[in-house]
Amino acid sequence: MKYIVLYSSQTGLTKKIAHAIASVLPKETPCLPILQMPSDIASYDCLFLGCWMRSDEPDKVAEAVLRRIQNGHVALFVSLHGDLFSDETSKRLHNVIEELPRGTVVDGTFITSIEDDFIPDDRNLEFARTFAENTMDRLER
Ligand SMILES: Cc1cc2nc3c(=O)[nH]c(=O)nc-3n(C[C@H](O)[C@H](O)[C@H](O)COP(=O)(O)O)c2cc1C
Repeated sequence: MKYIVLYSSQTGLTKKIAHAIASVLPKETPCLPILQMPSDIASYDCLFLGCWMRSDEPDKVAEAVLRRIQNGHVALFVSLHGDLFSDETSKRLHNVIEELPRGTVVDGTFITSIEDDFIPDDRNLEFARTFAENTMDRLER
């Protein structure tokens, strides 16, 4: 399996999560800002795509890319403000998924909240790494 990590980040949180995810994927896995998406993007079996929420929708930079994804497998990681386990948060995640072309398989999702005082930064990055490992494990089984 060939992986790539693309992210959109304004204040740096999604970028940090992206790099934590890439750190457990195969060594040659690119980890790039979404605007540097390579022209051979369709050749990657699984795209880990990160965005942040703005007005309860995916940020505009990511939104444009979400709509034209051609990868067979997509794993989403989303940064937002709010209670991780709330109905509102699940609806926001759904708003991101709805932007994907019909038929796109979502193999995993990971949410980070800037409001979550209970999860320290290093623990959160550990969760992000575990998310990537679990996703890869399921894809390669
Ligand atoms: C202008 C602006 C609007 C935002 N709107 C929302 C929102 O509607 N819902 C939400 O959950 N978070 C919202 N946020 C919080 C961001 O999603 C959150 O800070 C995120 O971690 C930013 O990611 P980044 O550090 O990768 O840029 C907003 C942040 C900004 C700056």
